[in-house]
Amino acid sequence: MWATRLGLILAMAGNAIGLGNFLRFPVKAAQNGGGAFMIPYFTALLLLGIPLMWVEWGIGRHSGRYGFGSAVGGLGKLCRSSRLSLFANYLGVLGIVIPLAFAIYYTYIESWTLAYSFFSITSRYAGPPTLEGMSGFLAGYQGREFNDQFSGLGTAAVFFILTISLNLYVLSRGISKGIEKLAKIAMPLLFLFAFILLIRVLTLGTPNPDIPENNVSNGFAFLWNPDYSHIKNASTWLAAAGQIFFTLSIGTGSILTYASYLKRRDDIVLTGLTTSMTNEFAEVILGGSISIPVSVAFFGLLQTTQIANGGAFNLGFVAMPVIFYKLPFGSVFGMLWFSLLFFAGITSSVALCSPAMAFLQDHLKFSRQKATLFIGSILLFGGFAVLLFLKHGFLDEMDFWAGTFGLVLFALVEVIFFIWIFGINSAWTEMHEGADLQIPKIFKWILKYVSPLYLVGLIIFWGYQDGIPILLMKQRNPADIPYLWGARLLILGLLILFLIFTYKSLNRKKTISNININIREREQI
Ligand code: PHE
Repeated sequence: MWATRLGLILAMAGNAIGLGNFLRFPVKAAQNGGGAFMIPYFTALLLLGIPLMWVEWGIGRHSGRYGFGSAVGGLGKLCRSSRLSLFANYLGVLGIVIPLAFAIYYTYIESWTLAYSFFSITSRYAGPPTLEGMSGFLAGYQGREFNDQFSGLGTAAVFFILTISLNLYVLSRGISKGIEKLAKIAMPLLFLFAFILLIRVLTLGTPNPDIPENNVSNGFAFLWNPDYSHIKNASTWLAAAGQIFFTLSIGTGSILTYASYLKRRDDIVLTGLTTSMTNEFAEVILGGSISIPVSVAFFGLLQTTQIANGGAFNLGFVAMPVIFYKLPFGSVFGMLWFSLLFFAGITSSVALCSPAMAFLQDHLKFSRQKATLFIGSILLFGGFAVLLFLKHGFLDEMDFWAGTFGLVLFALVEVIFFIWIFGINSAWTEMHEGADLQIPKIFKWILKYVSPLYLVGLIIFWGYQDGIPILLMKQRNPADIPYLWGARLLILGLLILFLIFTYKSLNRKKTISNININIREREQI
């Protein structure tokens, strides 16, 4: 159980606030029409994000009441018929494998932020203070192209192992002593560092007086002036909905697991809303005000667009270090930026591992230590595949199946089971138990029709636009194809493994209940 309400809110906010807020959001907004992106973005927040947040909290607290901390067990408890319940429990495996596959590559990216924090203090990356130089440095670090700076993946491996160890340490300490404590330390620091960086950005003005149009105000204008031509593109709407899922952590089952540690009458309506709003503040206000404005001030509009379009990590890991090099006390600001990312990352990665942790303890009766070791081995094994094969697209492939498609798919499963099978009226009562706030009635209708239809629409559009070309590996380099299959097999392997575990645990329960029936019969005789 969570020890305090503040701790719970910080842990939930830590779950949601992650690399998505500071690295992914600015890039997506810049790529999809700036201010115009915010229209589909807020639409998705209202019609999908917030309602699904309540759904996951609702399923989670309901599952926790029966002693289940993951969707296996949790989804089953929403069904009245035992057949359907069995099916639901197998479907629940998605709510363990999607976050676990996500965690594998997420912890690896998180380890770069730890490495770059060290590089900032030790001025290791101070060598190449240009965009090309830093881009080469990143390519070397990631093993995409070795150079004078890096001739192997040793440094990346060391930081990766360190990151996994820190994650496992937190997981091994449990909910209140591990995750809640981490959030109580990391979240205030994250906000503090973000505010310091924000003030630095806002007071920057025009760094190069020879090019007056390169300034912070134009940076904000670039991010926020709407380019309405994007609104007509389905891809903008998909990107916006995808960002809402990613950033709020919905559709993986990790919020469900956190909510299962609530007490029966703990409020979920107001607390769920607070978590969502805290995340939005961190994303739109803080995440949107650091990297893009500062990059426009230093590199101008054109180059910032190129940087943002060049890849998700270029803004954070290439442009930002070059800027830190140019600023007075740059190494301090660099350390603040990368440690902020690290805190954002670790509070999310432990959340991604937590459904599997709960499952192993609930269903296989693993001790917490044993569950931690088991998850650690999966992270290490899968993570090393990501580390070694990054240049072949291994990470992107996993990100599509787990971090893009998987979330929407599992969110649909959750809505169907909670709103349609458990029933909207039971769900409404369940969500309002102990509530500090009444949800406006209109959300009943949104939950029942709008959110599921929106999700189905997304799956269809996505499948058509991205899913099929990705599935068929169109326009891929033939040399990469075996690695892309490797990524799929890894996810598939995890699915099979956890399905077998579920089968075993459900059968064991059946045997136990049969024994109980036998005893009862004998007593009657
Ligand atoms: N919300 C996290 C982020 O913004 C990622 C995440 C997704 C974490 C799903 C947990 C579950 O980076």
